[in-house]
Amino acid sequence: MELLTITRQLMRRGKVFDFLIPEPVQDSALDTTHGPILYLEDISVSFDGFRALNKLNLYIDEGELRCIIGPNGAGKTTMMDLITGKTKPDTGSVFFGQNIDLLKLDEPAIAQAGICRKFQKPTVFEQLPVFNNLELAMRTDKRVWSTLFAKLSGEQNDFIDETLETIGLKELSHQEAGSLSHGQKQWLEIGMLLMQQPKVLLVDEPVAGMTHQETERTAELLLALEGKHSVVVVEHDMEFVRSIARKVTVLHEGSVLAEGSMNEVQNNARVIEVYLGS
Ligand SMILES: Nc1ncnc2c1ncn2[C@@H]1O[C@H](COP(=O)(O)OP(=O)(O)OP(=O)(O)O)[C@@H](O)[C@H]1O
Ligand SMILES: [Mg+2]
Repeated sequence: MELLTITRQLMRRGKVFDFLIPEPVQDSALDTTHGPILYLEDISVSFDGFRALNKLNLYIDEGELRCIIGPNGAGKTTMMDLITGKTKPDTGSVFFGQNIDLLKLDEPAIAQAGICRKFQKPTVFEQLPVFNNLELAMRTDKRVWSTLFAKLSGEQNDFIDETLETIGLKELSHQEAGSLSHGQKQWLEIGMLLMQQPKVLLVDEPVAGMTHQETERTAELLLALEGKHSVVVVEHDMEFVRSIARKVTVLHEGSVLAEGSMNEVQNNARVIEVYLGS
C-alpha cells in the first residue's frame, strides 16, 4: 500500500500529529489504592434543557468487567462520551483513580492517559495484514515515520503475538484486514486498542450485527480481559450480557436505577417496570 494512503489513515486515527500534543500534566501516577479506577459523581449533562445524565453516580473498579444496560435514550452513550472527554458535564466530577481530574483533560489527553474507546464502525487498515494493523497501533513513538520504519523488538513481537492469541486471529495474521468478516474486524479493532495498553476500555454495543458464533467468541474475548483492564460494556443483547455479566448497572433517564448481579437486576421491580413499560 502506498505510504500516502497509510499516512492518511493514520491521520484519521489521530496518530500523525499527536506528537504535537503535549503530554498531560499529571502530578502523580494513577492512584487506584481505594479500588475504583473511575469515579463519576453527581453528573448532569443537558442537551437543550433535556437531561441526558441526571445526577449520575458510577464507580468502576480496577480490572473489573462491568456491563451497563438500559432502555434507548437512558444515557449510556452519553456516559461514555463523558468519560472520554467528548462531552463535558454541567455539574459533577469525573476522576480517573483518586487523583486525575478528567474534566481538566481534553479528549486526546484522556486517551493518552489510558482510557480507550471502541467505536462501532471498525477503522482497521483494510489493505494491510492483520499483524501490521496491530503493529501500527502499538503504543510507541507514534510519529508516522518511526511507526513505519522502526524495527520491532523481540518484546514488541511477543506482545503482538499475545494480542493475536487474545483476539483469536493468530491463524489469520498475514491475511489482509479487508478480507475479514464483520466480527473478525471488530476483534481486530479491540486488538488495536489493546496494543495501546489501555487501563480502561469502553465498548458500546460490541455484538451488534454479529452472528451467534461471533457473539459467543466476543464474550470469551471480553472475559479474557478481566483483571488486566477495566472494561465497560454497553449492550442491548441480553443473552450476551448474561454470558459475561459480573456486576450489572441499569441506567434509566440518566441515573442508576439498579446495580448488582444479573439475577438481582432482572428481579428488581423497578427494572422490570422500566423494561416492560418501554
Ligand atoms: N448531542 C446530542 N444532542 C441532543 N440530544 C442528545 C445528544 N446526545 C444524546 N442526546 C439525547 O440524550 C438522551 C440519551 O442519549 P444516549 O445516546 O446517551 O442514550 P443511550 O442510552 O446510548 O441509548 P441507545 O440505547 O439508544 O444507544 C437521548 O434522549 C438522546 O436523544
Ligand atoms: Mg447508545
